[in-house]
Amino acid sequence: MSKVLILPGDGIGQEIIIQALKVIDHLNANDDLGMELTHGLVGGSAYNETKSPLPPATLKAAHECDSILLGAVGGYQWEGLPRDLRPERGLLGLRAEMDLFANLRPAILYPQLATASTLKKEVVSGLDLMIVRELVAGIYFGQPRGIEERMGERYGFNTATYTESEIKRIAHSAFKIAQKRNKRLCSVDKANVLEVCELWREVIIEVGKDYPDVVLSHMYVDNAAMQLVKAPKQFDVIVTSNLFGDVLSDCAAMLTGSIGMLPSASLNKDGFGMYEPIHGSAPDIAGKDIANPLASILSVSMMLRYSLNQTPLANKIDLAVNRVLDQGWRTQDIANPDDSIIGTNQMGDLVVAALQ
Ligand code: IPM
Ligand code: MG
Repeated sequence: MSKVLILPGDGIGQEIIIQALKVIDHLNANDDLGMELTHGLVGGSAYNETKSPLPPATLKAAHECDSILLGAVGGYQWEGLPRDLRPERGLLGLRAEMDLFANLRPAILYPQLATASTLKKEVVSGLDLMIVRELVAGIYFGQPRGIEERMGERYGFNTATYTESEIKRIAHSAFKIAQKRNKRLCSVDKANVLEVCELWREVIIEVGKDYPDVVLSHMYVDNAAMQLVKAPKQFDVIVTSNLFGDVLSDCAAMLTGSIGMLPSASLNKDGFGMYEPIHGSAPDIAGKDIANPLASILSVSMMLRYSLNQTPLANKIDLAVNRVLDQGWRTQDIANPDDSIIGTNQMGDLVVAALQ
């Protein structure tokens, strides 16, 4: 029996998580999944009810569960709030509180969607790369930070920091993942300009000595952005800092045609994980039954694989998603002009039907 905390969050998070829940309910009823669900608030919807984007009850539930499934956070209506009360704080707070330092963001091109990418088919077909993003340190969390009045004008500042141990642990995670894949790891930094990256590179090289079977390379982040668009199949696993990983993972996601297809895992040292689609809350399309629920459904599969040790059921979900794509069903974000376009709910129902 596993306990999973469901945090739909804001915007399309609400609709897509409902589809993921349909899949969970089906597997509970028919395949002995044995997942017990609790529900909680995070982000703007939590702020509306409790005046906090990360209420104490959510934190308590997070500490008491085996895994978290999160939708997305954020929306226009909360943009004017003080920084500490904004929806994003809820997400960043959960990551920090649960020490989810290893963020795995796979970018896989489903062969059925090869023509959905804005890039040429031959550039992206067969793409299967993994970005390992450090998630609880770096400039996102570094002190000091703020906006102040200095010398008669406003002054904004953040600090990019990494300790040796913070780099070491993400390096070990990335090398271990590379060992299970094609044994190539590219560390992305800006060591030609930033001291923090100079240390990053040194420590990655030191840790690499423990993994002689993995071929390690290094790339500056500007070049990595270019290479991802130019020749993405050169990469197997990429390891990088929090901010660079944020930017590069959106870029990698788009190679696959739609950010609406990609799940992610954020893990701590014990393998506890929070699972969420890579895409955001997309307030512009929220409530219209047009969002793609596949990333959130695939997040359930990733949870079963990485945290809950239920690989056969993870495979079953992946297979069902593939079947639905094979049958030609598309939400609007992954559709070609001739495809039959369906909504969020119908896509969820079709995946459940394909589980049988
Ligand atoms: C992501 C998102 C978050 C981030 C935001 C919502 C705080 O962009 O998960 O990539 O910047 O990490
Ligand atoms: Mg992002």
